[in-house]
Amino acid sequence: MQEILEKLEVKRAEARLGGGQKRIDAQHARGKLTARERVELLLDESSFEEFDMFVEHRCTDFGMEKQLFPGDGVITGWGTINGRLVYVFAKDFTVFGGSLSEAHARKITKIQDMALQNRAPIIGLFDAGGARIQEGVSALGGYGEVFQRNVLASGVIPQISVIMGPCAGGDVYSPAMTDFIFMVRDTSYMFVTGPDVVKTVTNETVTAEELGGASVHTTRSSIADKAFDNDVVALLQIRRLMDFLPASNLSGPPQLPALDDSERIEMSLDTLVPANPNQPYDIKELILKTVDEGDFFEIQEAFARNMVTGFGRIEGHTVGFVANQPMVLAGTLDSDAGRKAARFVRFCDCFNIPIVTFVDVPGFLPGTAQEYGGLIKHGAKLLFAYAEATVPKVTLITRKAYGGAYVVMASKHLRGDVNYAWPTAEIAVMGSKGAAEIIYRSELSDPEKIKARVKDYEARFANPFVAAQRGFLDEVIMPHSTRKRIARALNMLRHKKLENPWKKHDNIPL
Ligand code: HXC
Repeated sequence: MQEILEKLEVKRAEARLGGGQKRIDAQHARGKLTARERVELLLDESSFEEFDMFVEHRCTDFGMEKQLFPGDGVITGWGTINGRLVYVFAKDFTVFGGSLSEAHARKITKIQDMALQNRAPIIGLFDAGGARIQEGVSALGGYGEVFQRNVLASGVIPQISVIMGPCAGGDVYSPAMTDFIFMVRDTSYMFVTGPDVVKTVTNETVTAEELGGASVHTTRSSIADKAFDNDVVALLQIRRLMDFLPASNLSGPPQLPALDDSERIEMSLDTLVPANPNQPYDIKELILKTVDEGDFFEIQEAFARNMVTGFGRIEGHTVGFVANQPMVLAGTLDSDAGRKAARFVRFCDCFNIPIVTFVDVPGFLPGTAQEYGGLIKHGAKLLFAYAEATVPKVTLITRKAYGGAYVVMASKHLRGDVNYAWPTAEIAVMGSKGAAEIIYRSELSDPEKIKARVKDYEARFANPFVAAQRGFLDEVIMPHSTRKRIARALNMLRHKKLENPWKKHDNIPL
């Protein structure tokens, strides 16, 4: 009997070595942890239960029958993060570069099926070169099975991807269908085809970093939602993110013990908006002073910085924040900001996370670059996302809410539940100067007259009261009481029930 038990231990030890000590050393030398080390760090101590440790591929082409590694390049199983169930798979780069065989795909799809059936999030740690080249179509079919499950689980359970090494082919397509993608700086890359193929096909010379490094994907392509300095920071931050997310679309967001007084007054907010309407201020200051303990997990902070999106908590409940950022492009809405915020709003709506919107927007960004780039459709994405969202929506206009952008930013007209404004709010079709110059074009030659017209327009619209008179705002609030008022509103809306008409699915302008 003892012998049998020892045999199991030997087999396990073999499996734990993945592609062998030499490749593990190479992984470490690149500044990367191994798949197993990553899983250990991601999950609560001793909570990981591994499945399919002894699975091997069945390929016999290209001498593959002689290259068998138990586990076949992916570690799968389940565990907990701060006590809450999650399913996890981690690609093992030391085995055929983490590439996906048919057997490897089955391991992943088993975990995907369990996550969906048991309604718990799934986290993929990617460090892999796509389809196992030696397996041909069997590997491609395996990816198809993974992709199909990604789609079915979308909007039901949170799916998180962390890119922790060079990733190509299916190892970028599967993440692309998940809710969030995170990268590790300097060691992770994402591309459909790597630099060598690029050189062959297009004759472009490009490094892996230039083609698909963390900086490209967090600032230019917006494929990645955030980048971290190394594996350890990335995994600890994923643990932090998971505390904000619900287990599924049916469970409701988690509630953490609230240590921050929801009645907390912030007198400094009374002077946040500068006297000069053209002077910017940092909207993140408002977010940080509103959320519990200043704890804000920003999503896509390096992309479309004129829009801020991320998770915070109020009274311990998760809230999604969307805010125009006057510090960047004066907070205008452009195509990138529209896409970014639309995706975030839809995530929140899928998973029953209330949305708080802070508005200071002088309008859509004008110009040919924007129009040719599809501003109409990208802006419409955000309009559509807010309009279809049925979660509690609390909106606060701090300063400008001009034109179409006023309507888009969770206005009353798009079923905003509670719409507040600070006394500094200005709600109009456009800024006073532009407005006066259009209405009184014939007086343009007389600067004094125009000045007076601008003043008139300002007096009429550079305040929240015209909108408040019409009931488009529910209340004009003091800046210092923002946290308290939003907390009260969210509390009042906690059991909101609103349903859209039945449909197969909508047709958001993609
Ligand atoms: C089999 C692979 C592999 C693959 C890497 N390896 N990718 N084995 N199939 N797809 C193996 C290597 O042979 C090597 O084995 C080990 O993994 C490490 O690879 P290196 O090339 O030495 O590492 P590195 O220089 O860091 O480069 C990593 C890489 C590169 C960028 C991922 O290996 C690469 O470009 N691989 C091919 C990527 C690719 O084109 N995949 C197919 C995508 S198609 P040894 O024995 O030396 O350790 C696809 C279709 C899905 O995925 C459908 C999409 C819609």
